[in-house]
Amino acid sequence: MFPLRQLARHATRVLPACRPMSASAGPMVDVADDGGIAVMTLQRAPVNSLNLDLLQAMSKALDDVAKNKPNGMILTSASPTVFSAGLDIMEMYKPDLKRAEQFWTTLQEVWIKLFGFKFATAAAINGHAPAGGCLLAMSCEYRAMVSGKYTIGLNETALGIVAPLWFMDTMCHTIRTRDAELALTTARLFTVDEALKVGLIDETASDKADAIGKCKNFIKKFDRIPPLARTMTKLNIRRGPLTHMQKIRQADTQQFLAFLQNPQVQQALEMYIQSLKAKAK
Ligand SMILES: CC(C)(COP(=O)(O)OP(=O)(O)OC[C@H]1O[C@@H](n2cnc3c(N)ncnc32)[C@H](O)[C@@H]1OP(=O)(O)O)[C@@H](O)C(=O)NCCC(=O)NCCS
Repeated sequence: MFPLRQLARHATRVLPACRPMSASAGPMVDVADDGGIAVMTLQRAPVNSLNLDLLQAMSKALDDVAKNKPNGMILTSASPTVFSAGLDIMEMYKPDLKRAEQFWTTLQEVWIKLFGFKFATAAAINGHAPAGGCLLAMSCEYRAMVSGKYTIGLNETALGIVAPLWFMDTMCHTIRTRDAELALTTARLFTVDEALKVGLIDETASDKADAIGKCKNFIKKFDRIPPLARTMTKLNIRRGPLTHMQKIRQADTQQFLAFLQNPQVQQALEMYIQSLKAKAK
């Protein structure tokens, strides 16, 4: 219906060359048109960890999708077991501060674009979605998650990281504040069934195709709703977190950079990286 795939592939090609951190070759984001619905697939192997390159590709792809005025957008992953492993820890460990600033402001930008997307959004969560992966899913309007031994949640505190206010706002926009507080302070990663129970996801799915089908059904519900009224209602109900972000954006970046320069934080990150590597062996 519209040349989304072509546009998004081009978008990722024109990105400036950055410190090579990705294990994957080729575009990190694929966008395909499925009957007027854009399906955005994250494909940064192995776990779609959000580094600067992937975030830049997502930011550009979101612009391209919006230009095509789709009926809606579904966010999913090319990995069979991981939706997204969240922020790429290597962007935060012993960072180059200029790049770290660019990394953080691009993450903010992606959130602003996705959370405030004019068109209907849904996440087909086909695997683990910790931290930033959970943030991306929560920024959509609807979530279908594939059943299995996957987890989802904001687990930053376990790494010695304080989830930014806008991560918390996004969670409070999704589940009850009381549940969000408990989940955040205990770094809780929910199983799929627990996530369903608390409202962190809307439906479970048997596999990725089923999750995408459920996302499509959600988006199709809006066929009967005048689009302008829908968009204005969405943006009005999301105005609080978006306005808050605009107010705190610079301070939030400075806070992040100061945080990265704290030796205790670096030590916690180092230990976490080692534990991930040990687990992978
Ligand atoms: C997402 C997850 C459950 C997937 O598990 P898995 O499929 O068994 O994959 P692995 O843990 O073996 O990870 C695969 C590789 O990605 C790396 N990786 C995983 N998450 C990463 C992250 N957030 N940033 C950078 N690298 C990451 C691992 O170190 C491993 O690298 P290696 O192949 O060089 O050893 C698991 O990787 C995980 O819990 N990651 C950390 C998530 C997290 O806490 N994110 C918060 C960031 S603030």
